[in-house]
Amino acid sequence: MPLDAALEARLRAAGQGHLAEAVRAADPADAAGLLAQVEELDLELLRRLVDELVLAEPEAHDLGHIGPPETVPLPTDELGAARDAEAAAEGEAALREGRVAVVLLAGGQGTRLGFDGPKGDYPFGAVTGRTLFAHHAAKIAAVRARYGAALPWYVLTSPVNDADTRASFAASDWFGLDPASVRFVVQGTLPAVDRATGRVLLEAPGRLALSPDGHGGLLSALRRTGALDEMAGEGITTFFTFQVDNPLIRVADPVFLGHHLAAGADMSNLAVRKREPLEPVGVIAGIDGGTGVIEYSDLPDELAHARDDDGQLVLWAGNIATHCIEVAFAWELTEGGLRLPFHRAVKKVPYVTADGAEVRPDEPNAVKFETFIFDALPFAGASVTVEASREEQFSPIKNASGADSPESCRRDCNRLWAGWLEAAGVRVPRDTSGEPVDIEIDPRFALDPAELAARVGPDLVIDGPTALGPAPAGA
Ligand code: UD1
Repeated sequence: MPLDAALEARLRAAGQGHLAEAVRAADPADAAGLLAQVEELDLELLRRLVDELVLAEPEAHDLGHIGPPETVPLPTDELGAARDAEAAAEGEAALREGRVAVVLLAGGQGTRLGFDGPKGDYPFGAVTGRTLFAHHAAKIAAVRARYGAALPWYVLTSPVNDADTRASFAASDWFGLDPASVRFVVQGTLPAVDRATGRVLLEAPGRLALSPDGHGGLLSALRRTGALDEMAGEGITTFFTFQVDNPLIRVADPVFLGHHLAAGADMSNLAVRKREPLEPVGVIAGIDGGTGVIEYSDLPDELAHARDDDGQLVLWAGNIATHCIEVAFAWELTEGGLRLPFHRAVKKVPYVTADGAEVRPDEPNAVKFETFIFDALPFAGASVTVEASREEQFSPIKNASGADSPESCRRDCNRLWAGWLEAAGVRVPRDTSGEPVDIEIDPRFALDPAELAARVGPDLVIDGPTALGPAPAGA
């Protein structure tokens, strides 16, 4: 296929001349698609990323002065309970007045789980096999009903899973939600490049190896698609972001929202105590007088293991990637282009050579580029970190087995929901090691222990796996 001379010159100047050859050599059936992908590349950005993150010697990165973050601790006494009740009242008011939206981060590839399809389609429910999407949707429905809130739901997808995600919502009749209240936002992609040469890889003779540009891409996507305008037009000032892989999260929790709003924060975080020093979660830390997240892959072992005089981890605050963000702050961060730094991830990426030979590398051969949403924290004028109970709010499904797997999540859901039932006076059978039977509580049946206690009592008999509440649509 003939190639525009100006484009070819730009490709060569960017060190990507091989793509011109690839377009010329592509089968007629593939050439137009490949050319369209090549034309979409931001060659100036790519040149910069390759120079700085692939070809340059990696510089020792000074992490700055690091300590534990300032946090709003879990309530342990009446004072703490009163403080949280005050925050809850403020959060509830914002919900009632329609000032809040929720944003689900679901654009990732979920490679570690090895599940074919969007991760939100994973059937995590121990009793009904409900999917993560169905469960999040039920929570959103319950919060809307409780506060009479519009609470629009933005779902971040990527070109890799957007069509499948939309199809799954449509097939499940939007899980009973008004379709107009569920809005998909597609994040951008960036090419994977060869780690030795910085040249963009092709995953097939007519296709670039593209992957999602990291969840920092949420901010650009919200702006580019007009979602920020839409939010502003609907009087939304704050959005709550959460990850698709964590069914325990309290969606749009008024306590968290209230602490964020009361502090006049631009962006706030939820933190849980780390299970162990090297747990693969980012840490929320005080950095040079501000707040930031150090991703687990960047955290030196020595810092990860550091303990204070009481023997507690100094960097105890695990990031569960759940934030409150002001719409105005998202505008600021995307004015004239996204202000977040890029990270490099060295990965195994299958590719084809110029002769069309397929290569499945045994060793990481490629660099991918991503921005992370939590890198916005240093730009925030004010930020609050609220401690959350791990048992109540965090049990992600990331790996096929072991820690953070479907099995560990099922155990944690059972323990939590059995505890709610027992607090309501219901007897729950447990096995010899003390684990309860499989339990599921639909958020539309009860969002929290108090609501459950108002609905059930000691006369409820549980003698085997039990699901309470409306069956999720489409499950
Ligand atoms: C992430 C956090 C880590 C945190 C942990 C808690 C990052 C970089 N790190 O690690 O600090 O402690 O979760 O569970 O996020 N996603 C997108 N678009 C993308 C990439 C990811 O929407 O381009 C979404 C995924 O769908 C998922 C979430 O972001 O919901 C997290 O992505 P994942 O790659 O699983 O991050 P982790 O390594 O688990």
